[in-house]
Amino acid sequence: MEVQRISELRSLLHEYNNLYYVQNAPVVSDQEFDALMHELQALEQRHPECFDPNSPTQRVGSDLSQKDGFVQVKHKYAMLSLDNTYSEADVTEFYNRVSRELGEPFRICCELKFDGLSISLTYKHGELVRAVTRGDGVMGDDVTDNVRTIRSIPLRLRPNSGFPDEFEIRGEVLMPWNSFNALNAKKQEEGEPLFANPRNAASGTLKQQNPQIVAERGLDAYLYYLLGADVEGNSHINNLLAAQKWGFKISGHIKVCDTLQQVLDFLDYWDQARKSLPVATDGVVLKVDSLSQQEELGFKSKSPKWAIAYKFHAERVATRLNSVSYQVGRTGIVTPVANLEPVQLAGTVVKRATLNNADFINAFDLYIGDMVYVEKGGEIIPKICGVDYDSRSFLIGDKVRFISTCPECGAKLVRYDGESATYCSNTENCPSQLKGRIEHFIQRKAMDIEGIGSETIDLLFSKGLVRTYFDLYKLNMQDLCYLEGFADKSARMLVHSIEESRKVPFERVLFAMGIRFVGQTTAKTLARKFRSIHNLSCAGFEELKATQDVGERIAQSIVDFFKANPDIENRLKSVGLQTELPESDNMEAGGDKLKDMTIVISGVFSHHSRDEYKAIIESHGGKNSGSISSKTTFVLAGENMGPAKREKAAQLGVPVRSEDEFLEMIK
Ligand code: IVH
Repeated sequence: MEVQRISELRSLLHEYNNLYYVQNAPVVSDQEFDALMHELQALEQRHPECFDPNSPTQRVGSDLSQKDGFVQVKHKYAMLSLDNTYSEADVTEFYNRVSRELGEPFRICCELKFDGLSISLTYKHGELVRAVTRGDGVMGDDVTDNVRTIRSIPLRLRPNSGFPDEFEIRGEVLMPWNSFNALNAKKQEEGEPLFANPRNAASGTLKQQNPQIVAERGLDAYLYYLLGADVEGNSHINNLLAAQKWGFKISGHIKVCDTLQQVLDFLDYWDQARKSLPVATDGVVLKVDSLSQQEELGFKSKSPKWAIAYKFHAERVATRLNSVSYQVGRTGIVTPVANLEPVQLAGTVVKRATLNNADFINAFDLYIGDMVYVEKGGEIIPKICGVDYDSRSFLIGDKVRFISTCPECGAKLVRYDGESATYCSNTENCPSQLKGRIEHFIQRKAMDIEGIGSETIDLLFSKGLVRTYFDLYKLNMQDLCYLEGFADKSARMLVHSIEESRKVPFERVLFAMGIRFVGQTTAKTLARKFRSIHNLSCAGFEELKATQDVGERIAQSIVDFFKANPDIENRLKSVGLQTELPESDNMEAGGDKLKDMTIVISGVFSHHSRDEYKAIIESHGGKNSGSISSKTTFVLAGENMGPAKREKAAQLGVPVRSEDEFLEMIK
């Protein structure tokens, strides 16, 4: 009985998963889905003999690290690349060559070129058996366990949909913009280097040794090339449409063109339209549609002759490098910044661009006065992407050499093995680090002290009124009223806000303290597990490491922090901050304030993670839903809620509530 139910549940969940993640047309509520999933998990636990790596329960990923790295496997069919072109003239030339060589009518399939990393999936008897990266085209890494966590990749194909017994399908694994932005926001908060673009983020994620981390990062995949399958119709587009029926996610933006003009119109349209897609694209791939014509055209050594990639122009301009300055963050990381001759780029004037780190500068062999290319390819901060070496004159300035002492305090800079960052070694006294820690402490997500910004901190610091965040609690009206530009009202507001911050819960105090790598989420997890600063400071490396989401690096950082700050508990207590969670604090005690409400969560949040908001909604009797419909009570909107969702909410008259409004509602 139970064994049969396992198989029944698996089929049902595979189908619901496909409807939700591939077809964007859910038929059951998240709660129903979760209930079935829990039932399956419980049954699978009772029946270990039924283990199946392709069970829907395996999507969350095992936290067993693949300690020895990935196994290299040989591709059955080599994974070729495409020739790139950058102009309509090149595309025309490709079209004319195909026309000449075929000497008969042909059609061109135009598809978006997704900017992620390519993957090759093998299915046998309708089950995913292997996922391999491109590697060098001949051999790739077996990343099957990681790929199993990507929900838009079917683990089992739709029953009776006509799939062949064995075939390979290729496509692109990518990180949608909203996952990318959320991941970078988290990294920034934790003082870690950011991913430069979604492609690096997707590739870094897929190469993670721990599938559980992969599962959390919201990867997606589009499939675009079927091999080894005999599908009726002898055409690429028919192959893709068939694959779609079997359960694969295929791009909805494919056009089969009969003329060159139609192809050029497609390029023209998507050059702009791609900017509102939820995923990064960097061009268009043109493929001869007929498979027999593809065969006739054949291959070169590294690429097919029947396809070509047209790359969109990344928005870039050339400008002069005037100087390089260095910024020191709260963790002591020194970031070089290029000061540029102001230049217009993608709608804004760019004056500065990041130079990342010492290795980046060295790789470019930069000189002051160089003409550099600046690019804004969807990345957050403009970056230098090249140097016009030909335009160098004899009058060029000095070679850019990364500094060896801190620009703020003069201390020696250091680099650690395996890290690309350079640090100021003066953690105790460097003004930038001290001020940076106070800025971190007061931010909204931490102690939420209003009426003070980086300029006021500079002022208070220069007057000797604050050195550490503890000093904020000594400030009084008199001190403040003597300060330049501080009116009575603003001083009162600041004192009040500092007073109020004493009520801020322990988990946020823990985040505010600025332990390296301990972001909001980790602080919350630690607070829930250890419950007080006292317990946390006594915890050993192993105990810390055994905490969810805490790896060796974070555990070591916590140990180091308490070693360097042995009196932190007393200091926090002496200024009246919360150093433990109250007994009553547990998320479950919600009540029914959201009873009968269906809520859609969208965007990035400051006070809690999305998963926490989901839990909060459920604990207050509400229902979570993934898509906005007329049944939605309201949308809980974080910082960068997508424009499509906003529009849909407006169309259906569904109210949009901010994070603060929501927290107020359930208070
Ligand atoms: S077809 C033999 N279609 O672009 C042709 N590739 O520069 C196989 N890519 O390695 C590739 N979107 O990672 C194809 N719609 C698309 C694509 C696409 C992105 C990537 C793919 C490939 C690279 C070639």
